[in-house]
Amino acid sequence: MRPRERFVQAAKKEVLDRPPVWLMRQAGRHLPEYRAVKEKKSFMQMVKSEEIIFEVTLQPWRRYKMDCVVVFADILLIPDAMGMGLSFSQGKSPQFEKPIRDFSDLKNLRATDPSRDFPYLLKTLKRLRLELGDDAALLGFAGSPWTVMSYMTQSADPKLKKQILERLTEETIDYLLAQVESGVDAVQIFDSWGGRLTPEEYREWSLPYIVRICEALQKKGTPVILYIKESRPLLNEMCESGATVISVGSDTPLAEAATLARGKVAIQGNLSNELMVSATPEEIRQATEAMLQEMKDFPGYIANLGHGLLPETPIENVRSFVESITGNR
Ligand code: CP3
Repeated sequence: MRPRERFVQAAKKEVLDRPPVWLMRQAGRHLPEYRAVKEKKSFMQMVKSEEIIFEVTLQPWRRYKMDCVVVFADILLIPDAMGMGLSFSQGKSPQFEKPIRDFSDLKNLRATDPSRDFPYLLKTLKRLRLELGDDAALLGFAGSPWTVMSYMTQSADPKLKKQILERLTEETIDYLLAQVESGVDAVQIFDSWGGRLTPEEYREWSLPYIVRICEALQKKGTPVILYIKESRPLLNEMCESGATVISVGSDTPLAEAATLARGKVAIQGNLSNELMVSATPEEIRQATEAMLQEMKDFPGYIANLGHGLLPETPIENVRSFVESITGNR
């Protein structure tokens, strides 16, 4: 079975001879070839350049031949395109020139139009789709409204926050549908900070918006992966979101997720990204094989990490992880 089909079949809850594999944040600073590009450009210059998106997206795939390639972009490109002025300075969290403090700041943000605001991304997705053929699935992504909002404002006003979430939901649907038009096989919603909410809060502040996004993509038949970093208390909510696949953090025992998800949704995850830094390649192989064993009979499993690959991860460990799953050496 070719990698692209393997990935799509796993999202459809098929039991396969082996699961597909990719790694969150596989493109980035753990690769010397990424650091070489980064030396000459800022992150914002990189994510807006067609040539660099194409190159950096393919870098990890050329080395490791995982089954899925995730486009090089960022969850904060939407608020940037709305006019907030995003920048990343070395070693700091992302900064907005104009954070939202009140309703007038929100009103001043413009509505995005994907073909006007993200032509570099959409054109490169089309090119990547042609380049990859059936040799890898192509994954698009966006942040969840809740997670993206948490970077846009410090406000505690619930009315203001709900309006931001409404705006982001509309923007995110258009953005993801444009990625689908440009050839992605599936999309992932990063609700990385969803785990900061209790299940009750999650049902108020994050889930309803994700449900709407999933509905819009479901109409196109596009699989949606929903990721939460601290997913364990929120597994029920994740299963009810309308997502096709739930991507769980390393806090979640896979067997526990499997019991809740069986027959409803596929599962992605969840080797520790910290183990990927500290262990030897042999220890990675053992941990990965144990994980595969645990999910052997689960219908619809995609091997991945519990959170993004860290910059200090050794190349040999990433190789060991991927090869333990694909069997290629
Ligand atoms: O997975 C991939 O390889 C695709 C690319 C990707 C990036 N960001 C590129 C990036 C993806 C999927 C993201 C998602 C993202 N961005 C999330 C959700 C996932 C998660 O990690 O929880 C979040 C919260 C962001 C926001 C963001 N972007 C932060 C907080 C930072 C700075 C801290 C950091 O991790 O470096 C970024 C910058 C960023 N986005 C980098 C990359 C490769 C590093 C930039 C650099 O080279 O210095």
